[in-house]
Order: sequence, then structure tokens, then C-alpha cells
Amino acid sequence: MPAAFAGSSVEVDVRNADEPLGAGELATRLAGYQGVVCQLTDRLDESVLDANPQLEVISNVAVGVDNIDLPVARRLGITVTNTPDVLTETTADLTFALMLAVARRLPEADDFVRSGSWTAWKLSPSLMGVDLHGKTLGLFGMGRIGRAVARRAVHGFGMRLLYASRSPLPAEQERDLGATRVDLDQLLSAADVVSLHAALTPETRHVLGAAQFAAMKPSAILVNTARGALVDESALAEALDDGQIWGAALDVFEHEPDVHPRLLAVRERVVLAPHVGSATLDTRRRMADIAARDARAVLEGRAPAHPVPA
Ligand code: GLV
Repeated sequence: MPAAFAGSSVEVDVRNADEPLGAGELATRLAGYQGVVCQLTDRLDESVLDANPQLEVISNVAVGVDNIDLPVARRLGITVTNTPDVLTETTADLTFALMLAVARRLPEADDFVRSGSWTAWKLSPSLMGVDLHGKTLGLFGMGRIGRAVARRAVHGFGMRLLYASRSPLPAEQERDLGATRVDLDQLLSAADVVSLHAALTPETRHVLGAAQFAAMKPSAILVNTARGALVDESALAEALDDGQIWGAALDVFEHEPDVHPRLLAVRERVVLAPHVGSATLDTRRRMADIAARDARAVLEGRAPAHPVPA
């Protein structure tokens, strides 16, 4: 569907389909185009980029850019842009929604009511949850979303905060949040809730595996709204089955939309969502708008608002 921006020399061709293209099809489809606005499901790997050195801009409608081979884009002189900031608070909200959903077992409670299993109020119901207030939250990654989750945890829920990240927070923010920077091992052994907010890189792939789950408290909850491949999903399923951790809430998976069958099979204290961290109408509209504007900026020789640092 070719279209042109008003007053602009940029022509647009829209692919209206949900299924992502395979590498070969994507490489062919991009031939002759100077820019692409893409989604996190579009894998712009080395083969696709090497076949399309005419590209000037890749504008990702996401904050994460692990679907793009950045070193190759850099080598070919292709500008990469993303959509940070606009989705920060929305994703932090979902992180808390998931944390509460698993801690208070909301999907199970909903099933319980709908299935007619609720016959009497009990002091000690089968769906006993755990408190978040007063507990220790461990954040792996302290970028924009990590900080937005931290604010909610500390100021909204009275949680204590530990974090593990490449760089420390400014001292003033650490003080305001009462946050303590620790290494991942210390974080895992002390946190009641571990929430992941790091980018997926070769260094962070499977940063949580069998050894890390064994180090966590048996009462701990894992929340992942970052990228599925930060977690070894077989090891997580094992840890849940063996009671090494109490529960998990996951919005992201290593091989989306496929979910590890052993995670699908665990129904108690596990909450699963289909990668909807930023999925509110306002935020998704803004993300699409920002991505389109940045692609257009580069193609018109202007600086984009959100270049991914080379
Ligand atoms: C969503 O996962 C994003 O990276 O924006």
C-alpha cells in the first residue's frame, strides 16, 4: 500500500500482516527501500542487512533492539532508532500488575470463582497469597523501566530495594529510593521478588539458570517483563516444579509466541502474558508515531529523536 507523507518526498509501503517474514523473504522484501519501520518480531540479522546495504534507517517500534544486528548496521552506516521513554511507565505498570497477580494468585482466584469452586469464606483458603509490602525487591537492570518499577515499589508499596546493574544510580536517587547496589548473587539470595529489566545481549542471555534459581529463596517470585531469553526456561520450569522458588510471572518468552510446554503446564502461582508490557492504546499509538517520525527524519536528512547509540 504505497503512500506519501504530506509535504514530504518519502513514500511508504505498508505490509499489513501479523506473521513476521523469514530472513530470506524479509531480505527480498526490503530490496530497493531506504528505510524500514519494523517490530521486535522482525529479525534484521546479518544476512538481511548485508543483502540491503541501501538501507539508511531501521526504526524499531520497541525499546529493545535485540532483533537487529547492531554491529552490522553500524558497519553498513545504517541508523537504528527505537522508542524509549514513552513506554517506561506503561511497562512498569504491567510489571506491578504481574507481581500482584502472582503474589495474590489472581488468575487462579478468577478460575476458582467462575468454576463454582467457591463454596464458603475460609480463614485459610487454598489460594493463600503472599504480601508485597514490606518485602525486598531485587531489580536486575536499572535503566528507565527499572527505575520506574523501583519508584512504585518503594513509594507505593513500601518495599526495600536491591539492584544489580552495570552502573550505579546517582547517589541522590539511591538515597531517595533507599536502594542498595549489590552483585547478582547477593540480590538473588536476599530478594523476595526478583524482577528483570535488562536488555538482552550476549552477556545477559540466560543470566538466570539452574544455579541462580537454586540460590533464590524458596519463597521468591520471579517477574520478567524484559526479554524471555534472559531466563533459561527449562531451568525455571524445573525450579518451579521442585519448589526452589514460589512463583513466576512472565510477559516475555525465549521463542515467542511459543511458550515452553513445562511452563504452560504449571498452573499454580505462575502467571503468563503475551508480551503486552507496552500494550495500552495510548502508548502503542505513541510508539508507532515516534518510529514513523524518526524514519522520516533520517530519510529527509534530519537527526532522529531516538537514535540507538552506535
Ligand atoms: C517491548 O518489548 C519493547 O522492547 O518495546
